[in-house]
Order: sequence, then structure tokens, then C-alpha cells
Amino acid sequence: MHYLVVGSGLFGATFAHEAAKKGNHVTVIEKRNHIAGNIYTKEIDGINVHMYGAHIFHTSMKNIWEYINQFAEFNNYINSPIANYNGEIYNLPFNMNTFNKLWGVKTPEQAQQKIEEQKNELDLPKNPNNLEEQALSLAGTDIYEKLIKGYTEKQWGRSAKDLPSFIIRRLPFRFTYDNNYFNDRYQGIPEGGYTKIIEKMLDSDLIDVQLNTDFFDKKEEYLNSNYDKIIFTGMIDQFFNYELGELEYRSLKFETEEIDVDNYQGNAVVNYTDASTPYTRVIEHKHFEIGKGDKGKTVITHEYPQNWNRDKEPYYPINNQKNKSLYKKYVELAEKKAKNVIFGGRLGQYRYYNMDQTIMAALQLSKKEL
Ligand code: FDA
Repeated sequence: MHYLVVGSGLFGATFAHEAAKKGNHVTVIEKRNHIAGNIYTKEIDGINVHMYGAHIFHTSMKNIWEYINQFAEFNNYINSPIANYNGEIYNLPFNMNTFNKLWGVKTPEQAQQKIEEQKNELDLPKNPNNLEEQALSLAGTDIYEKLIKGYTEKQWGRSAKDLPSFIIRRLPFRFTYDNNYFNDRYQGIPEGGYTKIIEKMLDSDLIDVQLNTDFFDKKEEYLNSNYDKIIFTGMIDQFFNYELGELEYRSLKFETEEIDVDNYQGNAVVNYTDASTPYTRVIEHKHFEIGKGDKGKTVITHEYPQNWNRDKEPYYPINNQKNKSLYKKYVELAEKKAKNVIFGGRLGQYRYYNMDQTIMAALQLSKKEL
């Protein structure tokens, strides 16, 4: 078989790797000038910079952990973000360190009592009507005002009163002194960066990679050529020229800069949770890998949430009813009109996939298809 894989991100590369392993030919086309999609890392001043946002690999799936470890050695990085609220520093996720800093409480019982007290002081409806009511009913006033409200409003570009309550179903409270953001069994950052993983996946005589090549520049030609199947990891609505309407996204703007200091903020990830700071996060990339970087140099990225339009990168699908049912219609259209095309990955399936889920989905497809 000869597959055309559109997109050299984690999904496309995993499928290409598996297909080539079974003796199939694969042509990978990529519209950007580099491989690896959003997990692309680039070395600047000896630091592996995450060019499309911080990427921390975490999973509880042992088989996926073993799979990814074929392509890289992972370090023991544990994600422990810091929140900066108007200059006050708190640990995330919400845990005993956070509660101690907020209220001086020292035991889990005191912390639970404080949260209950704050919740009880509020006169909230039984069924929350919006995100603000939902968050207040789960966390009480202090945590909501200092650590949730501003960040969430910046993230979605709307007042918490105008956001649906389902965005926050539960809050990750932890009544231990544990700043590890994830609950997963395995976690780390690949030594040497993520791009090397994708390079290794695509390293085969049977795989041909073409950069700066947009599927839509020659769509008809690709559809009518001799490829046995197309694996499409771009946007499903764009594939059909948006004929049923546009799926909606949130976008992000990343501003990356080199600075002449050794250590800018003392942590890889700092979230700015107040409303007046325009960015949501500052990433200092050298802290993902201990001992990295040239002396006296660091690289930081400010992350600004943005509205999406067709000129901007689509990052987060907006999972409301309208988009869910539109996506379903595109899937039905694909079954009728694009029988030779398989839609995969975060854009093809209009889903927020963590990296482990992306690999799992690509391996499941490989098992079915190859
Ligand atoms: P991806 O978008 O990476 O690849 C698709 C590729 O297709 C791109 O290279 C694109 O250029 C190309 N393409 C699209 N249209 C094309 C066309 N018409 N022609 C040719 N090429 C085309 N996960 C996690 O586990 N831990 C984390 O910490 C994070 N952090 C994180 C931060 C941010 C800001 C985001 C947005 C996402 C994360 N993720 C994450 C999720 C992670 O990025 C995600 O799981 C993978 O990148 C998905 O890989 P895909 O291959 O599906 O898409």
C-alpha cells in the first residue's frame, strides 16, 4: 500500500512509522517548514524551546509510555506550576501549600473547613447558571477570585458569568502538600526535545517527507492520484471547504524572547491569574530540563489567548453543543463523500487530545488499518 499522510504532527508521524514498519510506502506532506506539528521544539541558546506552548508528557497508560520511550530518553520532570495573582505567589494545583498561603491553615481538616465556610457564606442557586456560580459553589470566594476568575476569563475571552457552567465540572483539590500537577503514573520531558522523537519516527527509507506543502494547494491532484489511502490530520471542515459551516476554536499567540539572565522566574510554568495581566502564562523553557542552556541566557514565552479566525492557528476546539453537532455532520459527510480518506488527530477529529491520547488513537488506527 502507499499512504498519503497529511500533517507531520504526532498523529501523522505515529501512523507513518507503524505503516512503514509493516512495509508500506508513506508520503508525508506538511504545510509548515518543519516537522512535529505542535510538539515542535527548537534549540535556542542550548535550550529546547517548546515553540507551540509548554508540552509535558504524562500518561497512566504503560504501553504508551513504553512506546514513546523507544524514541527518546525521558527525564524526571514533574510539572509544578506557580500562580502569580497581582504579585502574590501560590502553588498549583490547589493543595495544602496553596491553602496554607491563602489562609494560614495547616491541616487538611482546617482547609476543608475554610472552603466549606466560604461556600456557605454565599447564596447560590442549587443548579449553577454559569461558570462563576459553578466555581464559587465548588471553591468558595478566595480561590475563585484569586486563582480561577481572571485566568478563565482571559482564556475564553468572556466574563465567567457568560460562560457555561459545564467548563468546570470539578476542581482538582488535593489535601496533601503535593505540588505535582498531574495524577498520572508516568511523566517527563524528552531529553533533546520533542522534534527528535518525530525525526526518529519518520526515519525510514519507505517514508518521504515533503515540507512547505499544503494539501489544499493541490487537493484534486492528491485525491485523484495513486495513493491507496489518505490519512488527513488537518481541519475536517476545511477539507470540505467549510460547506456545512465553520467549527470554532480558541487560538493563542506565543511571544518568545531570549534574555541575558541565567534564571528569569525560577520555574518552568507561571500562570498569571489576575485579569489585568494580558497573558495567561509565562514559560521559561530551560527549567524543563535541568542543566540546559548557555550560561547567562534564558528563553521565555508569553502566552496570550486569542479569538480564532481562518488566519490564526486553531488550538483548542470549543466543545459546545453547536460545534459537537456540526462535527458529527462533517463525519457523516466524510462517510459519503471521502471514502478513501481517514480523518485523524486533534484537527481531523476536532478533539482536545493529550499527547498520550494522540499516540493511542494513531496506534488504534494502525491496528485496524494495517
Ligand atoms: P498537530 O497539530 O500537532 O499536527 C497536525 C499537523 O498537520 C501540523 O503540523 C499542521 O501544520 C499539519 N497540517 C494541517 N493542515 C495541513 C494541510 N492542509 N496540509 C499539510 N499539512 C497540514 N499534550 C500533552 O500531553 N501535554 C501537554 O503539556 C500539552 N500541552 C499543550 C499545549 C498547547 C498550547 C496545545 C494547543 C496542546 C497541548 N497538548 C499537550 C496537546 C498536543 O499538542 C497534541 O496532543 C498533539 O500535538 C496532537 O498531534 P496531532 O498530530 O493531532 O496535531
